[in-house]
Amino acid sequence: MILIDGKQTAADIKKEIAAEVKEMKANGAKTPHLAAILVGHDGGSETYVAYKIKDCEEVGFKSSLIRYEDDVTEAELLAKVEELNNDEDLDGFIVQLPLPAHISEQKIIEAIDPKKDVDGFHPINVGRMVIGLPSFVSATPDGIVELLKRYNIETSGKDCVVVGRSNIVGRPMSVLMSQKGMNATVTVAHSRTKNLKELCANADILIAALGAPEFIKGDMVKEGAVVIDVGTTRVKSDLTKSGWKLKGDVLFDEVAPKCSYITPVPGGVGPMTRVSLLKNTLLSAKKEIYK
Ligand code: GUN
Repeated sequence: MILIDGKQTAADIKKEIAAEVKEMKANGAKTPHLAAILVGHDGGSETYVAYKIKDCEEVGFKSSLIRYEDDVTEAELLAKVEELNNDEDLDGFIVQLPLPAHISEQKIIEAIDPKKDVDGFHPINVGRMVIGLPSFVSATPDGIVELLKRYNIETSGKDCVVVGRSNIVGRPMSVLMSQKGMNATVTVAHSRTKNLKELCANADILIAALGAPEFIKGDMVKEGAVVIDVGTTRVKSDLTKSGWKLKGDVLFDEVAPKCSYITPVPGGVGPMTRVSLLKNTLLSAKKEIYK
């Protein structure tokens, strides 16, 4: 069994990005600039956004954090999105999700200029990704593809089961795995799927993205399978200073011995997700998606 080290791979890619940014700046290009809008004080969102800002510093990007309280109106947020769309210094921005219930996430996402949508959530980017055009790809699926490539894991002709059909992970993941280049045969499983256990147990590549801690047990995994664990559920823990720890969707101790490759939680997919946002921002700064 090979443990896929997302932390190390992400650190390698960050170094590559930092070197490229240094060269761009030396050649007179402007500093890539990412902004994040954070609404409220959700613990998870605070942490993720803080990491995103720190990542920008580490690779030499400029970053801006725009904060609102929970009571911000949809109109105020839409006005800020419009302002950022027109900010010529800004290469990309994200609106951290989830948003408070009184704000339509879809309306906000669709207000973002696709050219600055480095999260890859806008329907234009999703649509372009589906038909194989250059696009900003959602960070988690993009990070997983990068991990599979960097570990030279064969995907062509393999049976891939993606458990979960979210817009951010499962759905785009299934599309990417079936595309030319990846060439997997993909099944998307979800809460209504019949015989889930048997389906998973036949997968050469199993991607667990349902958000249910330790849902995937040893008897749901084929001997020699590649298992990618996207789960990051916070569960209470007396063993950590913070009072919580991250749990994946895979019961690691049971599943890992059966795998050819597996990602741990933490230190697997998570760090790669962060790096993909940097990659997208760099692509935007270089005008490589929308010429
Ligand atoms: N919430 C959870 N993941 C993400 C992400 O990748 N981007 C944004 N904007 N919000 C999130």
